[in-house]
Amino acid sequence: MQCLPESIMKRRRLYIAGLAGLGLIILVSIYKCGNDGERQASEIRKCFFCDFAHRRQGPPPILEVETDEYVIFKDKYPAAQHHYLAIPKEHFDSLRSLNRSHLGLVQRMQAGMMEFLKTKKVDPKEAIIGFHLPPFISVHHLHMHGIFPPSDMSIGNKISFMSSFWFKKSEDAIHDLEDREL
Ligand SMILES: *[C@@H]1O[C@H](CO)[C@@H](O)[C@H](O)[C@H]1NC(C)=O
Ligand SMILES: [Zn+2]
Repeated sequence: MQCLPESIMKRRRLYIAGLAGLGLIILVSIYKCGNDGERQASEIRKCFFCDFAHRRQGPPPILEVETDEYVIFKDKYPAAQHHYLAIPKEHFDSLRSLNRSHLGLVQRMQAGMMEFLKTKKVDPKEAIIGFHLPPFISVHHLHMHGIFPPSDMSIGNKISFMSSFWFKKSEDAIHDLEDREL
């Protein structure tokens, strides 16, 4: 699979929520097709999140925050009033591509997301902050969601962003990375 066009992201997210909700774990293996090495090379070439992060192609989303390491912008299909994505400038397919050497990056992305939410008068402790796990990812470039308020969310999105085997809260991701090899 490769980076999907944005136009089908929303549909795919609902689809993912549906699948997850039904607990059709068996579908996981169907999605896990293809050769990872090959896939990675083609994705890096045509990854629109890489283009966003490096302002390569227009019209990019407005970058709300930009650091040397990551950018934050509004999700094109917000699941609630506030819905932002933090993505690293360096391309990683997903959390699975990271190891303990990336702990600092994820911690800084989380801190950046929390600080940014505060500027929007959102208490980061009340927000949903985390990552989808493969194969439940719509874009194969690591992206951290920051969503508030959860009460705005549809049932489908509540399921999609529920802490589970398809969605990992950033604090849990950080905890996992601490235990991973370098
Ligand atoms: C961890 O990630 C770094 C940076 O991407 C990489 O150089 C290193 O080989 C990785 N280590 C393992 C065990 O995969
Ligand atoms: Zn990318």
